[in-house]
Amino acid sequence: MIDALWGWPPPVLDPAGPYSAKVTTLSWSLFALGLVVTAIVVAALYVAIKGPDRWKAELGGERAIWLGGVAFPGVVLTGLLIWGLTLTASLTEPIRGDEMRIRVTGEMWWFRVQYLDADGNVSMEDANEIHIPVGVPVVLELESADVIHSFWVPHLSGKKDMIPGRRTLLRIEADRAGEFGGVCAEYCGGQHALMGFVTVAHDRQEWNVWLAGRRAGAAQSAASPASASEGASPYPGDADAYPTKAELLEQYDPRAGYRLFMDSGCAACHRIAGSDANGLAGPDLTYVGSRRTLGAGILANNRGTMVGWIGDSQSLKPGNRMPSYDVLTAKELGHIAAFLELQR
Ligand code: CUA
Repeated sequence: MIDALWGWPPPVLDPAGPYSAKVTTLSWSLFALGLVVTAIVVAALYVAIKGPDRWKAELGGERAIWLGGVAFPGVVLTGLLIWGLTLTASLTEPIRGDEMRIRVTGEMWWFRVQYLDADGNVSMEDANEIHIPVGVPVVLELESADVIHSFWVPHLSGKKDMIPGRRTLLRIEADRAGEFGGVCAEYCGGQHALMGFVTVAHDRQEWNVWLAGRRAGAAQSAASPASASEGASPYPGDADAYPTKAELLEQYDPRAGYRLFMDSGCAACHRIAGSDANGLAGPDLTYVGSRRTLGAGILANNRGTMVGWIGDSQSLKPGNRMPSYDVLTAKELGHIAAFLELQR
């Protein structure tokens, strides 16, 4: 299912932006050069076995060793080294210093995504999904909360390790709109293979719509603590702005879901901006309803998968830090999923 939706696993050598194109060019050049060297070696081997005696003598001579064994590999390998180092540097240095910045933190086994403002403060937090505008270089600040992970969106850039206690930079850029799959590319524990994310590149108009939607959502959430304390609204945002119980699937009530979310301990690990849920250990859920995937790229996000994830996340992703909430009934899980759908 994910295969169809996000090109999973993400293909390499299929660039959708300038940085990935550079890496792809280098990769094909290495391959082509490898073919040439192989052809030369095979030809030399043939001459050494069946060639004329004069050529054989030449092959075994001192000149052949200096030219073919020292000079040629020396020049070629030095050239490739310079190419590789220059290319790596061009992916990891800010161009001007005022680019859009997004901090991505690897955690076992998901990605924390924090959009930074001009002062470097977190203006918006999300998880396992990165949104960028097309045609604009974006600088990622890569960090790790626990062990070494590695950030890789093959369509958009090179691969870069996320190292505990260090901040590494990586530039990404898309030259066309689309949804591009990403993976953790460094073994980081039992569920390393299930640590994925999606990068969504929006064209200019779509980007503005997306950004405006996020701002509106944040403003709505920000208004809620006061109303909650007055007892007017038991959940984030304006109660009237939410679909009524009847408008949703009849038997699930987001209001009941909010209550269960707060009372079952979810809020101890998860934050929802503007609500009393302030936990920082797990993914921020302020925009969880808008995400394409659940469980760091392993499931499409819908009510059914949300119910399954909350109720039995340890079967879906053994050892992850989210306990299976099997104490909740199917109906209660449905209420919570209905509530989370509205966080967008
Ligand atoms: Cu994180 Cu592999």
